[in-house]
Amino acid sequence: MVATASAQAGEQGWSSRTAFILAAVGAAVGLGNIWRFPTLAGENGGGAFVLVYLVCVLLIGLPLMLSEFVVGRAGQSDAIGSVQRVADESRVSRRWSIFGGIEILAGFLILSFYSVVAGWVLYYIWLSGGDFFGNLFAGEALRGAFSDLGQDAVSGMMGDLFASPGRLILVHALFMTATIAIVASGVHDGIEKAATWLMPAFFFLLLGITIYGAFTGDFGRAVTFMFTPDFSKLTAPVMNEALGQAFFSLSLASGALITYGAYVARDVNLAPTAATISLADTAVALIAGLMIFPIVFAVGLDPSVGPALIFQSLPVAFQTMPGGSLIGLLFFVLIFFAALTSSISLLEGPTAWAIDRFGLRRPAAAVMLGLGAFVIGIACALGYNVWADVRPLGFWDIFADADILDTIDGFTGKLMLPLAGLLMSIFVGWKADRRLVEVQTGLSGGLFVLWRFLVAWLCPIAVALILLFGLFPQLLG
Ligand code: PFF
Repeated sequence: MVATASAQAGEQGWSSRTAFILAAVGAAVGLGNIWRFPTLAGENGGGAFVLVYLVCVLLIGLPLMLSEFVVGRAGQSDAIGSVQRVADESRVSRRWSIFGGIEILAGFLILSFYSVVAGWVLYYIWLSGGDFFGNLFAGEALRGAFSDLGQDAVSGMMGDLFASPGRLILVHALFMTATIAIVASGVHDGIEKAATWLMPAFFFLLLGITIYGAFTGDFGRAVTFMFTPDFSKLTAPVMNEALGQAFFSLSLASGALITYGAYVARDVNLAPTAATISLADTAVALIAGLMIFPIVFAVGLDPSVGPALIFQSLPVAFQTMPGGSLIGLLFFVLIFFAALTSSISLLEGPTAWAIDRFGLRRPAAAVMLGLGAFVIGIACALGYNVWADVRPLGFWDIFADADILDTIDGFTGKLMLPLAGLLMSIFVGWKADRRLVEVQTGLSGGLFVLWRFLVAWLCPIAVALILLFGLFPQLLG
């Protein structure tokens, strides 16, 4: 018998329900929560976006997350192998595993640019760390970060980084090396251990910085901004953006959750676990907003500046705040922890597949796939300097302005994730054996009927709409 990744993990899957939850929360919470969510909320008017996002998480994200865990635990293999096994047991075509294949490929591609952005975080840890320790030795530990520099110089730090292929590739390499090392160490000794150390540290830092922001920043204005929906802002593109963000943030349709589901013990009740993970992910996104917007407003920054919000604006904010030098450092360490537990889940999906499919040893699979993603990431990094004019899908109007990184982000987010999610909801809602699915969910009675309705009807229709309007925005008028 071929040793599958999950069979190998048999005696070394998650050691407890808590370990599984930490690993899955680690996968979900990442750059999507702390960087992408506040950025999109800021660009799309705050409250209206946040409201749609919350509805999407509840009605589409949560049911689909449970679907992924169900397929993984029933299939006991990687994202393709698990779907095949559930298809066999349900007597439907194995071709449904195509969505597992799209998921694995999407995870691999997301990893390539995710590691590049996480590299920026490492660079900022380096900058703010040097600044903090410099101040400390000068006996001025409570100064603001970079307060010797003018604001333009601080904003220019991002420009300097982007202009340097060497620096971008170096920090990308460092982050990818850490990701590979953890995945190569195994499910129990690598992924679980990383999550059980990093996630509690993450939550501790998150709460600390949020409380700090509440006292020093403009908390009231942040709350108003995030929770007062202006319904005139509720356009179809905003809804589309919010739905896509829910997919990305919950790590749906990227191979990670089916694979993590295969490592879960039989006696874990999956439905409340999926609810816990979705709730934690959503709470972190909201808290990240409550951490970032008070600072943004306190120093009079524009919340809608886009992707530069945390990298360019916040260091400026930290300049003027008491103790900003330390807070700035902690803030980027926080993002680094979150990004690392997500990137390992992105690499685990393809790695488990390579182990199952080709019988590779885990370290060999992790190194080869990590290197592959690293090479694609190099292209993303060069897209900010030597290949700044390259528009890989420039012939397609929705990608016409997208550089290499944005193209891969957009192609996975707008096309691959919704497509895989659509196929999965049809598979789980209509094709998979009902009893097999019911047993795995741990739901019964009305709750099971509700979940099945959401998966079989609401999800396919809503996700088909994202795909349609994501690819053909002109239809929205
Ligand atoms: N959910 C992660 C975030 O919000 O940063 C990103 C991610 C991780 C997407 C794992 C997909 C995935 F499989």
